[in-house]
Amino acid sequence: MAAPVKRDRLFIDNEWRRADSGETIAVANPATGEVIGTVPKGARAETASAIEAAARALPEWRRRTAQDRAAHMLRLHDALMDHRDALAAILTEEMGKPLAEARGEIAHGAGFFKWFAEEGRRIYGDIIPSPWADTRIVVSKHPVGVVGAITPWNFPNSMIARKLAAALGAGCTMVIKPASQTPYSALAFGDMAMEADLPAGVVNIVTGAASEIAAEMCENPALRKITFTGSTATGKKLAAQAGAHMKRVSMELGGNAPFIVFDDADLDKAVEGAMISKFRNSGQTCVCANRFLVQSSVYDAFSEKFAAAIAELKVGDGAEDGVTQGPLIDEDAVAKVEEHVADAARKGGEVIAGGARHALGGAFFQPTLIGGASSDMQIFRDETFGPVAAMFRFETEDEAIRMANDTEYGLACYAYTNDLGRAWRLNDALEYGMVGINQGLISTEVAPFGGVKASGIGKEGSKYGVEDYLDVRYALFGGLGR
Ligand code: SIN
Repeated sequence: MAAPVKRDRLFIDNEWRRADSGETIAVANPATGEVIGTVPKGARAETASAIEAAARALPEWRRRTAQDRAAHMLRLHDALMDHRDALAAILTEEMGKPLAEARGEIAHGAGFFKWFAEEGRRIYGDIIPSPWADTRIVVSKHPVGVVGAITPWNFPNSMIARKLAAALGAGCTMVIKPASQTPYSALAFGDMAMEADLPAGVVNIVTGAASEIAAEMCENPALRKITFTGSTATGKKLAAQAGAHMKRVSMELGGNAPFIVFDDADLDKAVEGAMISKFRNSGQTCVCANRFLVQSSVYDAFSEKFAAAIAELKVGDGAEDGVTQGPLIDEDAVAKVEEHVADAARKGGEVIAGGARHALGGAFFQPTLIGGASSDMQIFRDETFGPVAAMFRFETEDEAIRMANDTEYGLACYAYTNDLGRAWRLNDALEYGMVGINQGLISTEVAPFGGVKASGIGKEGSKYGVEDYLDVRYALFGGLGR
């Protein structure tokens, strides 16, 4: 197949369609501010058509063997990898991340299809010893049905991949509503689905008005589950709306990750981890370290090394060679980052590096390091979602744990220590869905990604991730005696 291009139509029932109203949404390149195209402004009617198509495709898709579904999913994996460069170029153009990161994301996304192709073959049930004579209790797992996925702009490919792959492996069909900032990476899944010979209606993609598409997903009885990645505020509203119609939900929401550096840590490794955890995707990941808690005795040494590493970052258009920090997604994102920095400075924080909009203008912000941060600052409470690292001092392990857990969020956290006992104590005490010990990058398709507290419900990836797309049923077989 020819390399994927930026599709400007909805993908429903394996067909490319306009919105009924003919209305469109403009898509901009965050590095240049230029409009790079438009996509249809779909709404309730188009979402209903997509759900209908997914419901029509469901009986046949769920009836297939896991091996057969796996064959299509492996083809989808190969299609993504074959078109990796073209897909990465589309991703960088609409989202801004450096090309190398975009290529990494496509491979990460493709990995979910391989993983869940296999995992779909291991959806086992149980036989439970029955309390009654001449009976058997059989537990089996069944696809939930049609799933609605609402996905974010920060990982326009892999956030779709990890939902879609789990759904397909479980035998579900899907309607995807991508973020309006990054619809082209999502629509490319239409071409990938065709290349993988997926039957019509198994994957449908509707761009457009978020509130209307979400309302149709929540209210349409043919759709059985909603999976969402995005902010905690939106997730709470969506979960309430879905709950009113008794839909299952998976919610992968915001975080406020602590990154703890103990005095027994290897500081060079800690800085390496800090750079990836903080500055990957220009600080726009929900697992980004937001609060660097550094033990007083190594605070100055860590700060110096961290500032030196930050000075090496190269800010620019992600499509240019050597750029490691792209723009933020839009002006609102820059304004939030600016507000966090101003608030920290007002409350006594020291701006050690950066601290302002970048000379390139537009959505570019300087990679920033703030010292002497305190818990009354906004940055201690709220997810910054930008390239700002704030360092807080602590004295003891207990104090570090208390500070780390002093947040409504519970997605990811990180700790650097060479004390094995301490590492295990931290793993027990930190109230987070994911813990990186001496590691700044934790995302992989083989492990369960997801948070606790206000960071969400459910898991994505791994053997746990497929369960989110399955209903458990039990059957009591009676009258088995002679
Ligand atoms: C995120 O959900 O923002 C992070 C995704 C990842 O690390 O793969």
